[in-house]
Amino acid sequence: MCASISGFSKLSKSKKIDWIVDTYFSNAEDAKRILKQYWNSNDKLQQLHDEFIENTITNYYLPLGVAPNFLINEKLYTIPMAIEESSVVAAASKAAKFWMDRGGFKTQVISTTKIGQVHFMYYGSTENIKNYFNSIKSQLIEDAKPITKNMEKRGGGILDIELRDKTEYIEGYYQLHASFETLDAMGANFINSCLEQFSKTFKTEALTFDGFSEEEKNIQIVMSILSNYVPDCLVRAEVSCRVEDLNEDKNISAEEFATKFLQAVKIAEVEPYRAVTHNKGIMNGIDAVVLATGNDFRAVEAGVHAYASRNGIYSSLSHAKVENGIFTFWMEIPLALGTVGGLTGLHPLVKLSLELLHHPTAKELMQIVAVAGLAQNFAALRSLTTTGIQEGHMKMHLMNILNQFEATETEKATLTEHFKTNVVTHSAVVEAINQLRINN
Ligand code: MEV
Repeated sequence: MCASISGFSKLSKSKKIDWIVDTYFSNAEDAKRILKQYWNSNDKLQQLHDEFIENTITNYYLPLGVAPNFLINEKLYTIPMAIEESSVVAAASKAAKFWMDRGGFKTQVISTTKIGQVHFMYYGSTENIKNYFNSIKSQLIEDAKPITKNMEKRGGGILDIELRDKTEYIEGYYQLHASFETLDAMGANFINSCLEQFSKTFKTEALTFDGFSEEEKNIQIVMSILSNYVPDCLVRAEVSCRVEDLNEDKNISAEEFATKFLQAVKIAEVEPYRAVTHNKGIMNGIDAVVLATGNDFRAVEAGVHAYASRNGIYSSLSHAKVENGIFTFWMEIPLALGTVGGLTGLHPLVKLSLELLHHPTAKELMQIVAVAGLAQNFAALRSLTTTGIQEGHMKMHLMNILNQFEATETEKATLTEHFKTNVVTHSAVVEAINQLRINN
């Protein structure tokens, strides 16, 4: 049934639920029961979640797993990962252990600059807008002082503001292109507040600027917003070891593995269809840690994929080489993350995740997240170039299917044993569980 409603947001939570279940569900009571099953019995905690967003009707759970044994710059971490996809945490843990025994991950923050822009229209002389910008630039920064003073005390703030002429793309289009250092905050609110202040000052002061004609005084602000493209907020993660040390109990020599691994990375460097999947594997690790630590995975995703196409072709984020018998695998990736502000001080599981990571600074978190991405990519390429991906995936998938069929613990034990020597497919598992139930 299609239905519209006005004033929905003003209804109480229980009235919202009543409307939803009565309008859309054949079994309203059943739907209500499921929604309520996911409420937290602690009213205060539930209210906290209710108030994160609007029109909350229940909570949507994701598992929070941990991947131990990550040695990063000589320090050991257990990394929290919030993700629904089976195999990701297992793969991360395996890669962590593999590299822990080979010197661990080396990381480095290359830069931490974030960007925001005021987009505006001005139909006049380029010379005059440049003069105006130069005359007003220090006032733009000064007028934003109430917003920036605390950040400045801690060593951050506005780094620079440039006037950018974009009229070759759109007639009359210019920008104030500003760069920021936001330290341990992701900085979205800080940057957006600064930008909105810039736009006010910029528009208002133009009205009394002597160097403008009457027409030129009419600067039209289109919008003021941070950019999620952060190519100068960059972190590098790397692993390396002697080629012969790559050997493990796979049916492949270390040299052959290194060759296939390099080929797989090269393919992702030149072939966008493969690069997207290759990078998706990296994002399996990155998003899971970004989510667990209360950061904005959509922002990270957008920025990372834009970076992957910075040279005009969508390409691999990671790279590999063998030089003088040393295998090196690395990645440089833009990550705008925060460890203060936003959800980090609110969500109890985010706080717990950050404590698990020894209360990292934003720079430390950038390194941990990049490592989770590189580890995930290593694990995926290792499976793909040796056993194939399905072997591991289907074992994890087995448990999901068994849960779907509400298998008992005894059934799970019997079928896990059975599928140690049989290929896991959806139909094979369904058949086996049916057979087992007939026999018992
Ligand atoms: C699946 O979630 C991720 C992989 O497809 C990544 C890859 O192909 O490199 C396994």
